Amino acid sequence: MNIVILAAGQGKRMCSKLPKVLQPVGNMPMLSRVIQTAKTLGTDHNILVVVGHGGQVVVEACKDDDLKFVEQKEQKGTGHAVMQTLPHLRENEPTLVLYGDVPLIQSQTLKKLLEKAGDGFGLLSLKTENPTGYGRVIRQNGKVVGIVEQKDASEEQKLIKEVNTGFMVLPTPYLNSWLSQIDCNNSQGEYYLTDLVGLAVRDGMEIQTVIAEDEMEVAGANNKVQLSELERALQERLALELMNKGVRLADPKRIDIRGNLHCENDVFIDVGCVFEGNVSLGEGVSVGPYCVLKNVSIASGTKIDAYSHFDDATIGQNVKIGPFARIRPGTILSNNVHVGNFVEIKKSSIGTGSKINHLSYIGDCDMGSSVNIGAGTITCNYDGVNKYRTTIEDDCFIGSDSQFVAPVTVKKGATVGAGSTITKTVPENTLALSRGRQIVIEGWKRPTKK
Ligand code: UD1
Ligand code: CA
Repeated sequence: MNIVILAAGQGKRMCSKLPKVLQPVGNMPMLSRVIQTAKTLGTDHNILVVVGHGGQVVVEACKDDDLKFVEQKEQKGTGHAVMQTLPHLRENEPTLVLYGDVPLIQSQTLKKLLEKAGDGFGLLSLKTENPTGYGRVIRQNGKVVGIVEQKDASEEQKLIKEVNTGFMVLPTPYLNSWLSQIDCNNSQGEYYLTDLVGLAVRDGMEIQTVIAEDEMEVAGANNKVQLSELERALQERLALELMNKGVRLADPKRIDIRGNLHCENDVFIDVGCVFEGNVSLGEGVSVGPYCVLKNVSIASGTKIDAYSHFDDATIGQNVKIGPFARIRPGTILSNNVHVGNFVEIKKSSIGTGSKINHLSYIGDCDMGSSVNIGAGTITCNYDGVNKYRTTIEDDCFIGSDSQFVAPVTVKKGATVGAGSTITKTVPENTLALSRGRQIVIEGWKRPTKK
């Protein structure tokens, strides 16, 4: 089939440098969502994107081998937009029209429309209590005979509550002839794609209609208010999908998924969490309130406490993290690790059962298993120019407020006394101390005010 995606509109009301169809919903440009949905309809379709305003930017943002971009230099209406694609259409296959600014259309709805249309003319309509702005679907004896745009409609026609969503399947062999017959003698001076409906009926064709079940699926965004409405609708849809797969959400209205979130059974997600990129949560994982998780995989049984932040990390089973933990790129936490409040970890692997419970910075570190890191421990990994690694082997005990001036290694079973600055290798099973000795001055008097 041919799939034509109209994406030439400027979207002045977005008040943005970014072309309208690149405005994001769920952190993905609206047009990319439409392309993604088009691709779910099958392989080997002839997908044509009509671009105009900001055309090059749109092409750059969305280009891929399965797409052709067609330029519409001036925006003279939806009919004019489809005209530009005529030389690129496969004559013997139907043509489906989609919209770059209507991103929530679902493939199951389009499949229904395609099935209903067969080789003929299919129209997706909507019944709505507030038809203002839409083209009205005109029926006679139950059959569609035409579409009248809001601006051309009589007062009587304006009362019609069945409207045109714009989504259509067209019989391609007729397109050339029909498009050459439409003109722009209407209130907007545009070539209307919707005029094809009347022409098809005149040619004795019956218009097959499917009525959209979900108004948000066919809603477009012309401004930031509508964009936010689409965002909410998408989030609600994603939340429902999760719950239907067994995820327990504290409040489906307070979750934001801006990528792909995969969950096993019995996951619990508290309010205010944001998921970005690819996130997977294993069985029984629990995510506390207001966490941000980006490109992270978390294995079963792990508990994440409030306000924790993850970016590009791999977390094992039965790990405890947070509240207020920051897990940065390249972090690998093995099973049963504990990471407590105000701990930042970057590009480090932490072995099974190790604990970093309070106020620490662990960067560029290879840590063995069953290590205990005292509060306020810091790996000094950066000399201002280069980064170096710290190695802390199995079963070490690191006293509070210690620093490791990398590159440095603490061998198995070693102990580091609190407040030490470690600059040289600590051998196995030894105690390393590097702090000044405590002195006591008897009879010391505090200064008095002069
Ligand atoms: C259109 C329909 C209307 C329908 C409504 C649904 C026509 C004439 N009217 O009206 O019946 O109820 O959509 O939202 O089709 N575009 C181009 N090139 C152009 C003009 C438009 O690419 O020259 C794109 C726009 O970027 C937009 C889409 O086509 O994505 C619809 O165009 P718009 O002018 O917004 O049509 P409506 O007036 O909303
Ligand atoms: Ca519109």
